[in-house]
Amino acid sequence: MRRYVLRSVEGQAEKAVELENVDQPSVGSGDLLIRVRACSLNYRDLLMKRGLSASGGDEPVVPLSDGAGEIVEVGSNVEGWAEGDRVALTFFRDWESGPFSMRYHKAARGGSCDGVLTEYVSVPAHSVVKIPDSLSYSAAACLPCAYLTAWQALMERPAERVGPGRMLLCLGTGGVSIAALQIAKAAGAEVIITSSSDEKRRKAEALRADHTISYVENPDWDRLVHEITEKQGADQVIEVGGAGTLGCSMNSVRAGGTISLIGVLTGFQPPEESLFPLVAKAADLQGIYVGSREMFTSMIEYIVEHRISPVIDCTFGFEEAVDAYEYLESARHFGKVVIKW
Ligand SMILES: NC(=O)c1ccc[n+]([C@@H]2O[C@H](COP(=O)([O-])OP(=O)(O)OC[C@H]3O[C@@H](n4cnc5c(N)ncnc54)[C@H](OP(=O)(O)O)[C@@H]3O)[C@@H](O)[C@H]2O)c1
Repeated sequence: MRRYVLRSVEGQAEKAVELENVDQPSVGSGDLLIRVRACSLNYRDLLMKRGLSASGGDEPVVPLSDGAGEIVEVGSNVEGWAEGDRVALTFFRDWESGPFSMRYHKAARGGSCDGVLTEYVSVPAHSVVKIPDSLSYSAAACLPCAYLTAWQALMERPAERVGPGRMLLCLGTGGVSIAALQIAKAAGAEVIITSSSDEKRRKAEALRADHTISYVENPDWDRLVHEITEKQGADQVIEVGGAGTLGCSMNSVRAGGTISLIGVLTGFQPPEESLFPLVAKAADLQGIYVGSREMFTSMIEYIVEHRISPVIDCTFGFEEAVDAYEYLESARHFGKVVIKW
């Protein structure tokens, strides 16, 4: 079978994404053999390629955390699954339910354990979820990281779930932010979203974003958030930018609101701004790390109930995986980038 691996190259800062032929994996008694049919990329996969992700591990590793496919073999001790079942894999192999634990870092797919950019993968039966008939393999492959992160931030962790009467602020139009927009609109919330691109702002409006802001034309976009919210601020911020956006996010959140700290799009450096606004506003800063299998199952029920279709910008073939990486890196996408075969 064919699979890709991430491998360091002497003298180069970035790892190479290399295609190789290997034997099909054997299936342990507690495992499922999955024929992977689609994967999606996340910004984290670029960090992994640059050797910058916290969830990296030994090399070579099969990249990408997010995949979906069909079960083609069931381990002798596995109950409840059958050949032909359609599944998506979880981001953390072993986080089934309950609160996060540092031990789950040991098996984050596409980082500290093998991922899904491979024709077949053998995985423990506890690390997949069933996907509904209404979702294609490509759509299901968008869910394990970006959608589940948005779901946990909006529906699992905050004291108050997103819903009618709540104002959400999303930064940019990448995978996590568009997932948050869709989940929040389905819940009846009002959404402000920022983007560097007018065309992407129009696309966000087509997804029922209530207000859009160009963060390029308005570097102090927190002022516009204040105008839109009549000086109240947003109830919750999906903070995917990190150090470079946290100052504006702190200014944008309302008193008693929540900043869901998710990303590092502006880098890993510490923020220049004082964190004191969080104290002055009695606001929560909540670190979010993808989610558990149990959260994934709840999210799928919600996606089916609200007929949410993950937003796929474009799709590449298995042989075009390197092009898919380059496309994600160009940040031309709106929502998700998929590899399908
Ligand atoms: N904590 C977790 O569990 C978790 C899970 C998933 C992702 N993440 C992190 O969250 C971040 C987003 O991930 P992703 O996969 O959604 O990324 P992505 O799809 O690659 O998002 C790229 C988009 O982000 C927007 N962006 C870039 N810089 C920005 C800035 N300074 N201000 C506002 N928007 C900006 C741009 O949108 P426009 O083109 O519209 O300007 C860009 O197209 C990454 O840092 C990733 O590592 C964390």
